[in-house]
Amino acid sequence: MLSNRMEQAINDQMNFEIFSANIYLSMVSYFEDRGLPGFAAWMRAQYKEEIFHAMKMFDYILGAGGRAKISAHDAPPQDWESPLAAFENALEHEKVVTGRINGLMDLAQQEKDHASQIFFQWFVSEQVEEEANVGDIVSKLKLVGDGGALFMLDRDLGTRVFTEPVE
Ligand code: FEO
Repeated sequence: MLSNRMEQAINDQMNFEIFSANIYLSMVSYFEDRGLPGFAAWMRAQYKEEIFHAMKMFDYILGAGGRAKISAHDAPPQDWESPLAAFENALEHEKVVTGRINGLMDLAQQEKDHASQIFFQWFVSEQVEEEANVGDIVSKLKLVGDGGALFMLDRDLGTRVFTEPVE
């Protein structure tokens, strides 16, 4: 059983995950337009991962007897100055998500909601990975610049496939 405050907070984060998904979906379109299908494929996998995060929260709320409520979302950006700018945006966004997940964990601890603490533990670990993966690509983009190596990186990133984690 979730407290009203906890239920509201998880709903807010579930909607923020959908907003995250929309940002990355917008980046899919941007990268396709730039002729970088590998970057687009990477972002498509990221989009699916965010929807998975949102659905994990959606199902958790329902499983705890609560109501999952879908709200309106801000429109995501549609253009970036460069692939590097897009990935820097993604990294900043993931840092915001990490802060929000930590805040949810703090709330679960304050409320002595042990089930939610266990639930959010998965997201705490996931955010370490999310920031590391995006940060790694930001570093590579800074190294390669706009030259031919960008196309090699595009080929590398195109190999990413999202598979739902088995729990
Ligand atoms: Fe769902 Fe990228 O955090």
